Amino acid sequence: MANVTRKIGLSLGADICWPGCYEEIVKRLDVTVPVAGDQVRFEVERVSVEPFNLQQPCNYDVVLDRLTHWFHTSREWIKKAVIMDGLYVLNNPWSLQSMEKHTTYAAMMHLGLPVPETWMIPPKEYSPDLADAKPTLQRYARLFDLAKVGDQVGYPMFMKPYDGGAWVGVSKIDNADQLRAAYEQSGQRVMHLQKAVDPFDIFVRSIGIGPQVHIVKYDPAAPLHARYQVAFNFVDGQEWSYLTDQMLTINAFFGWEFNSCESLRKDGVFYPIDFANACPDFQVTSLHYHFPTMVKNMVRWSLFCAATKRPMRKNLDWEPFYAVAKKDLPLRDRLRAYAAIAHERYETDRFAEFCAKNLSHLDEVTWEFFTTPRAKELVRHKVSALFPAHEVEAFTEHYWGLLQFWRKTESDRMSHAKAERIAAQTAAPVSSQAAESEGVAAQSPAAAPKKKASKKAAL
Ligand SMILES: Nc1ncnc2c1ncn2[C@@H]1O[C@H](COP(=O)(O)OP(=O)(O)OP(=O)(O)O)[C@@H](O)[C@H]1O
Ligand SMILES: [Mg+2]
Repeated sequence: MANVTRKIGLSLGADICWPGCYEEIVKRLDVTVPVAGDQVRFEVERVSVEPFNLQQPCNYDVVLDRLTHWFHTSREWIKKAVIMDGLYVLNNPWSLQSMEKHTTYAAMMHLGLPVPETWMIPPKEYSPDLADAKPTLQRYARLFDLAKVGDQVGYPMFMKPYDGGAWVGVSKIDNADQLRAAYEQSGQRVMHLQKAVDPFDIFVRSIGIGPQVHIVKYDPAAPLHARYQVAFNFVDGQEWSYLTDQMLTINAFFGWEFNSCESLRKDGVFYPIDFANACPDFQVTSLHYHFPTMVKNMVRWSLFCAATKRPMRKNLDWEPFYAVAKKDLPLRDRLRAYAAIAHERYETDRFAEFCAKNLSHLDEVTWEFFTTPRAKELVRHKVSALFPAHEVEAFTEHYWGLLQFWRKTESDRMSHAKAERIAAQTAAPVSSQAAESEGVAAQSPAAAPKKKASKKAAL
């Protein structure tokens, strides 16, 4: 039996809080995992940016990447390491690079999801550096009546960049005059016009990490620090399971393992409006109450990938999804079938077993960590980077208070899960492994599963 160390690299930019918490929690877990006759331990290191030889070996097993969508040096280093060294990276850099909002809308429309009506319009202006733009447009660009397109989409609508993020260039449009004005201002950006889901009665963000999905109520009209809500039971069990399957479908289709999806409910239907967020917000200043759960989900999934040397998928293989799409199934059944493909790809059962066997102390470790001065220091550090000096103290206490509220509800949840386990053992003896698995799966607010099959839904 050999002692083996798996190295996890954090490829970071401006992130402050989650990497510090992740590193501390992995250290405090102090875990050794038996895998195929080896004793596996974990080391976490921040990846540096420097010149590299394309043939130089990569000494990481897994990289958690937060740069690929804009920082090309790191993206290309990662791509080389996947190809040459078998590196496992969250998220797939090729998929991230090529799947902007537009592609994701088209793909999910094809799979039958109720994405609102969306049009693409050619840009208002072209860069003078594009030498071929003039002849191309003179020959082939058809003059179009913007107001007519507007009528076809219907008001209210949203104009937004086809590949955008962070609400840049997004505007709500109520009539043809506003549409013309917004188009005038859009410059060289290629824009979508998308029918607004309006009015909606609930807005949710689902955040997927591997097969784990966390669903949060969201208020886009609130100030930045209050958009993610601390809310419970805001959707029923069936909706929760529907949103979970939807997130798993999207992520497995694009080969993403960390992504968020915005869905708006109108007349009982959830319309997904933005799900190309493969570098989702991971800041304590946004996620607050939900932050420890996100860090835990990342710890679980990354240690699983590193310990088991999970191979990176070499291609996306959409055929199984298309095969389901071809059958004329009702939406709920389709999603279930897509999610089954996702569970297979994410090895959900194996993952649950891994967590139950090796990471059952993660809940306690995380719960303890968020009482420590180090945790508070990381919160303060992040707050200092975001808020003006005179607000740092008040906002540090605000976020710290929300984290302590999480500890309170988390401790209730852990006691409840323990009581359920004991009751289940008393009622009917189960194998120790099955009992442990329940503890892991119950970390999700979804109902703690009792059977192996339902473990998937809760994860
Ligand atoms: N079809 C729509 N119906 C209703 N509201 C919408 C629609 N499209 C966009 N919005 C609103 O505009 C906001 C920004 O749009 P969107 O999420 O597509 O852009 P983004 O730049 O990707 O934002 P982010 O980076 O925060 O996810 C949404 O959070 C939502 O509040
Ligand atoms: Mg969005």
